[in-house]
Amino acid sequence: MSYLTNFSIFSVLLSLLFISTYATTFEIRNNCTYTVWAAASPGGGRRLDRGQSWTISVLAGTVARIWGRTNCNFDGSGRGHCQTGDCGGVLDCKGWGVPPNTLAEYALNQFGNIDFYDISLLDGFNIPIEFAPTNGGCRTTRCAADINGQCPNELRAPGGCNNPCTVFRTEEYCCTQGYGPCGLNRYAQFFKSRCPDSYSYPQDDTASTLTCRSGTTEYRVVFCPLGSPHFPQEMIKSITV
Ligand SMILES: *[C@@H]1O[C@H](CO)[C@@H](O)[C@H](O)[C@H]1NC(C)=O
Repeated sequence: MSYLTNFSIFSVLLSLLFISTYATTFEIRNNCTYTVWAAASPGGGRRLDRGQSWTISVLAGTVARIWGRTNCNFDGSGRGHCQTGDCGGVLDCKGWGVPPNTLAEYALNQFGNIDFYDISLLDGFNIPIEFAPTNGGCRTTRCAADINGQCPNELRAPGGCNNPCTVFRTEEYCCTQGYGPCGLNRYAQFFKSRCPDSYSYPQDDTASTLTCRSGTTEYRVVFCPLGSPHFPQEMIKSITV
């Protein structure tokens, strides 16, 4: 074997070692009574029946979002459609989902070797989510209120509840021009009062982007964590009337 071949095998091994050292694991688990098609961008997608989970490995420096899709139909080649969170009609997501969808967002290994993570309702809400570091003393964040059941009529969408920016497209709700007139208006209040930890409106300074030391931490994202409404909206209505 030539010196060069040996050298390239060595560098492949070295880069594999580098990758495994700097990868963070995300376990995405479905605790809902219904099937959820998990999505990650980057990361892809996976069908999760009740109690199933999907583990993805993410490289240092990755900035990404994880969400759940509901009422999907995919053919054998992974093409189809979802009622919420659809990403271009494919099982294996390459891009973001169509709102409404509850988002678990993160940025790994940012300045000072810190991971940032939060739950965002800026794309609305479809499924209750808990986002938890699994080791280290870092905080768990969750949004598990009955937002679909209590959604204001103007924001209602099939299978979810839209953020007002998605519906009205105005500066008042979107604040695309930097610091604008966005504040704790009545729609923002609707989301904020139910999920105080989550990003509810564009300038939600009271929302905490949580931090955790990079490298030693793995994360778990759970759809329908304990205490969240487990039934689809239609079932809750038929039970309460
Ligand atoms: C998800 O379900 C499992 C099994 O029932 C349970 O042990 C776990 O605590 C649940 N996770 C959350 C976040 O509720």
